[in-house]
Amino acid sequence: MAIICLVRFQLQFLIFLLYTTSLLLKTSCTGSYPPINVGVTLPALEIFAGGVNYFTGPIPVSLSNASRLQILDFSINGLTGTIPKNLGSLKSLVRLNFDLNNLGNGEVDGLNFLSSLANCTSLEVLGLSENNFGGELHNSIGNLSTQLKILTLGQNLIHGNIPAEIENLVNLNLLGLEGNYLTGSVPDLIGKQKKLEGLHLHVNRFSGSILSALGNLTRLTRLFLEENRFEGNIPSSLGNCKSLQNLNLSSNNLNGTIPEEVLGLSSLSISLVMSNNSLTGSLSLKVGNLHNLVELDISGNKLSGTIPSTLGSCISLERLHLEGNKFEGPIPESLETLRGLEELDLSENNLTGRVPEFLGGFSVLRHLNLSHNNLEGEVSRDGILANASAFSVVGNDKLCGGIPELHLPPCSRKNPREPLSFKVVIPATIAAVFISVLLCSLSIFCIRRKLPRNSNTPTPEEQQVGISYSELIKSTNGFAAENLIGSGSFGSVYKGILSGEGTIVAIKIMNLLQKGASKSFIDECNALRSIRHRNLLKIITACSTVDHQGNDFKGLVFEFMSNGNLDQWLHPTTEQQYRTKKLSFTQRLNIAIDVASALDYLHHHCETTIVHCDLKPSNVLLDDDMTAHVGDFELAKFLSEASKNPSINQSISVALKGSIGYIPPEYGMRSEVSVLGDIYSYGILLLEMFTGKRPTDDMFEGDLNIHKFADMAFPGNVMAIIDPSMLAEEEINENEVNEHGIEERAIIHNNDFQVNRTSNIEECLVSLMEIGLSCSNKSPGKRMAMNIVVNKLQVIRDSFFRSINRLGKNVALYFK
Ligand SMILES: *[C@@H]1O[C@H](CO)[C@@H](O)[C@H](O)[C@H]1NC(C)=O
Ligand SMILES: *[C@@H]1O[C@H](CO)[C@@H](O)[C@H](O)[C@H]1NC(C)=O
Ligand SMILES: *[C@@H]1O[C@H](CO)[C@@H](O)[C@H](O)[C@H]1NC(C)=O
Ligand SMILES: *[C@@H]1O[C@H](CO)[C@@H](O)[C@H](O)[C@H]1NC(C)=O
Ligand SMILES: *[C@@H]1O[C@H](CO)[C@@H](O)[C@H](O)[C@H]1NC(C)=O
Ligand SMILES: *[C@@H]1O[C@H](CO)[C@@H](O)[C@H](O)[C@H]1NC(C)=O
Ligand SMILES: *[C@@H]1O[C@H](CO)[C@@H](O)[C@H](O)[C@H]1NC(C)=O
Ligand SMILES: *[C@@H]1O[C@H](CO)[C@@H](O)[C@H](O)[C@H]1NC(C)=O
Ligand SMILES: *[C@@H]1O[C@H](CO)[C@@H](O)[C@H](O)[C@H]1NC(C)=O
Ligand SMILES: *[C@@H]1O[C@H](CO)[C@@H](O)[C@H](O)[C@H]1NC(C)=O
Repeated sequence: MAIICLVRFQLQFLIFLLYTTSLLLKTSCTGSYPPINVGVTLPALEIFAGGVNYFTGPIPVSLSNASRLQILDFSINGLTGTIPKNLGSLKSLVRLNFDLNNLGNGEVDGLNFLSSLANCTSLEVLGLSENNFGGELHNSIGNLSTQLKILTLGQNLIHGNIPAEIENLVNLNLLGLEGNYLTGSVPDLIGKQKKLEGLHLHVNRFSGSILSALGNLTRLTRLFLEENRFEGNIPSSLGNCKSLQNLNLSSNNLNGTIPEEVLGLSSLSISLVMSNNSLTGSLSLKVGNLHNLVELDISGNKLSGTIPSTLGSCISLERLHLEGNKFEGPIPESLETLRGLEELDLSENNLTGRVPEFLGGFSVLRHLNLSHNNLEGEVSRDGILANASAFSVVGNDKLCGGIPELHLPPCSRKNPREPLSFKVVIPATIAAVFISVLLCSLSIFCIRRKLPRNSNTPTPEEQQVGISYSELIKSTNGFAAENLIGSGSFGSVYKGILSGEGTIVAIKIMNLLQKGASKSFIDECNALRSIRHRNLLKIITACSTVDHQGNDFKGLVFEFMSNGNLDQWLHPTTEQQYRTKKLSFTQRLNIAIDVASALDYLHHHCETTIVHCDLKPSNVLLDDDMTAHVGDFELAKFLSEASKNPSINQSISVALKGSIGYIPPEYGMRSEVSVLGDIYSYGILLLEMFTGKRPTDDMFEGDLNIHKFADMAFPGNVMAIIDPSMLAEEEINENEVNEHGIEERAIIHNNDFQVNRTSNIEECLVSLMEIGLSCSNKSPGKRMAMNIVVNKLQVIRDSFFRSINRLGKNVALYFK
C-alpha cells in the first residue's frame, strides 16, 4: 500500500509540474480535500477525479465554472452535503460519479437536483449509489441524457415507484436501484431497454408479478430481484435471456413451477438462486443443462418428486442447496460426478436410501447436511463423513454406524474392526497409491471397453457422463492431423467436437510409448479430480481403455480454449499474428490476476497443497473472453505426497521435467518441491508478460537473466524495458466490459477521448515489476506468497481503473 502511495506522489508531482497551478496537493497519506475554488482556478479543467481516497466535506460549488468538465469522479470518499444544483450547467459532463460517499441527508427533496441535469446531454454515467439520498424518483428522470448507460442509485433511502418515464433511457446498460424502499410494480417498459446487462432491483419492496417482458432483454447477464414481494409465477420467457449468468429470485412470494426454459439456460454460470419462495412441482430433467453453473439454490420451497439424475451433468457446481423441500427417493448415484462441490445441503426433505459412499471422496466438500430425511443403512467414515462439525445426519432414524460423534446405533452387520486395522496395517504410502488409482479409475467416469465394435449402442450411463474410444475417434475425425492443436512431452492434443450437444473440446492423448506416460495420466487425473476453479483448465471427462489394435489407450477431455495459449499471444511468430494477437495492458493485468488466483487456489485452498511444477506461458490457456486457465498438471505434486517421500530422486526428476527458464534455482540444488518453486515460475512469467522477453531470450547470457534485467531498470526506468505493444490503443471489447463492470466502462470513456494513460500505466507497471521481482527472488524465503500477490494485483487493478487521468489535457488528480 505504501508503495502505491509513493508512486502516486510522483504522479501528482508530474501533473503538478505540468500545469504549474498553485494547487495545494498533499503528498502524505493523511487528510485533505478538493480545493474549494478549483473551478475558478482551473476553468479549463476537463477531468477532475480523485476516487478511493478519504476526502470529506462538500462538493465545491465553484466546479460549475469549469464549464469544459467532462469527468467528475470522486467515488469512494467521505464527501458530505448535497450535489450542487448548478452542476447541470456543465453541459459536457460525460461521467458524474459519487458512488459510495456520504452525500444527501435523507431528505424528501434529496433527488431534486436530478432534474437540473437535463442539459447534460452527453451524460453516460451517473453514479450516486451508497449515499444517503432520500425522496422519490421523479418523472424528470426521463429527461436525463438518452446517452445514459450506467445509472446507480442503489443503497440509498429512496422510496416510491419507478417512474414510467424511465423508458426514455434507451441506452441503459446497468440500472442499479437495489437496497432502497421502492414499491409498486416494475414498469413494463423495462423490457424495452434492450441494452440492459445488469438489472439490480433486489432488497426493495416491489410487488406484482415478474414481467414476462424481461425475456426481451437478450443482453441481460445479471438479474437480481431477491428480497422483494414479487408474486405469481416465474415467467418462462426468462428462458430467452440467453446471456443470463446470474439470476437471483430468492425471498419473494413466487409460486408455480420452475420453468424448464430457465433451467435450460446454459449461460447461467455464476448462480441460480430461487430459495425461500413457494415454488411447487418437480425439478425438471432440464436442470442437467446447467453445465457451467457454480451455485444452485432452490431451498425453502415446496418442490417435490425425485432429485433428477441429470443433476450429475452440472459438473461446475460448487454449492448445491435443495434443503427445505419435499424431495423424495434416493440421492442419485449420478451426483458422483459433482467433485467440485463445496457445499451440499439436502436437509429437510423426504429422501430415502443410503448415504452415498462417494460423498466421502469429495475432497473439497466442507459442508454436508443430510439431516431430517429418511435415509437408512450404514454411514461410512471417509472424508467429510468423518468430520462431525462439517457433516450432519440428525433426524434420519434408520441410519447406523459412522463416527461416534454422530451418535448413531451400531450396524447389525458385524464388521467394526476392519476399517481400523486396514488403516494401521497397510503402510500409508501403499494405501495412498491404491486409493488414488482406484479413485481415478472409478471416479473420472472412465469406461473400459474391450469390444469397441459394439459402440453403436452406448449404455445410458455412458451417454450421460462417460466417453468411449469410438466417440473420441468420431469427434476428432479419426485423430486427423488438421485437428492436432499441439503436442507436449507426454502426448498430443486434438480439437474435437462431441456428438450430441456439439461441444468443442480439447482431447489430450497420452503417448503411452513414452516412459512414465501412464503414471503421468494418473497424476493428471489425480490432480484434476479434486480441484476446480474458474482459472484452472476444467476436465470434462476421461477415457482409459484399449484401442482398436488392443493397445492401452488413455485420453483426457478438456474444455476447449479458443484463444490458444499465452505464449502464442506474447510471442507472435507470423506477420498475421503480429497484427491480430496483441494483448493490451489491461488484458495482461487480468491474465496475471487469473494465473495468480489459480496458484493461490492450488497453494492455499485445496485440501492438500498442490504444486503445479510447470508454470509457463504455454500452460496458460485463454478462453473466448481471454480469461486465463492454468492447465497441464502432468508434473503436479500433492505436497503431502511429495513430503512423504522427500527422496532426492523425486525432486531431481521434477526439476529436470520442469521447463528451462522457469525452474527455480533451488530445484537445481536438489531441494524439495514446494510452493515457493511455483512462485518463482510465476515471477518469471509476470516479468515475461510485461517485458515481452522470454527468460530464454538470446540476450540473457552469462550473468544476465530476466530477473536481473528487470531489476536494473527498477523502478525509474521501467518504461524503458516494457513490451511496447501493450501500450498500443487499448481495445476494450464488450466481453471485457461485461465481466468487469462499471470501472472498466470508465476506461471506454477514456478511449473515446483518446486519453493517454501512459503515466497511470507506468505507476502500475512499477508495482507489477516489483511483484515479479519479489516472486522471482533467488532465495525462496524472500518470495511473496500467492495470496498476497493476488491481493496486491487487485489493488493495482482497482487503482488503475479508478484513477482516470491523462496528460496533455487539463487534469487534476488527487490522491492521499
Ligand atoms: C463562476 O460562475 C458564476 C456563475 O455560475 C459567476 O457568477 C462567477 O463570476 C464565475 N466566476 C468566475 C471566476 O468566472
Ligand atoms: C437548460 O438550458 C437552457 C438553455 O441553455 C436553459 O434555459 C434551461 O434553464 C436549462 N435547464 C436546466 C435544467 O438547467
Ligand atoms: C422534461 O422535458 C420536457 C420537455 O423537454 C418538459 O416539458 C418537462 O417539463 C421536463 N420534465 C421535467 C420533470 O423536468
Ligand atoms: C417483448 O417482445 C414481445 C415479442 O417477443 C413483444 O410482443 C413485446 O411487446 C415486447 N415487450 C416490450 C416491453 O418491448
Ligand atoms: C400464486 O400466487 C398468486 C398470487 O399470489 C395467486 O393468485 C395464485 O392463486 C397462486 N397460485 C397457486 C397455484 O398457488
Ligand atoms: C442471491 O440470493 C442469496 C440468497 O438470498 C444471497 O445470499 C446472495 O447474496 C444473492 N446474490 C447476489 C449476487 O445478490
Ligand atoms: C424468506 O422470505 C421472507 C420474506 O418473503 C423473509 O422474511 C425471510 O427472512 C426469508 N427467509 C430466509 C431464510 O431468507
Ligand atoms: C415421505 O415419503 C414416504 C414414502 O416414501 C411417505 O409415506 C411419507 O408420507 C412422506 N413424508 C412426507 C412428510 O412427505
Ligand atoms: C442442517 O440442516 C438442519 C435443517 O435444515 C439445520 O437445522 C441444521 O442446523 C443444519 N446443520 C448444519 C451443521 O448446518
Ligand atoms: C471439519 O470441518 C470444519 C468445518 O467445515 C473445518 O473447519 C475443519 O477443518 C474440518 N476438520 C477436519 C479434520 O477436516
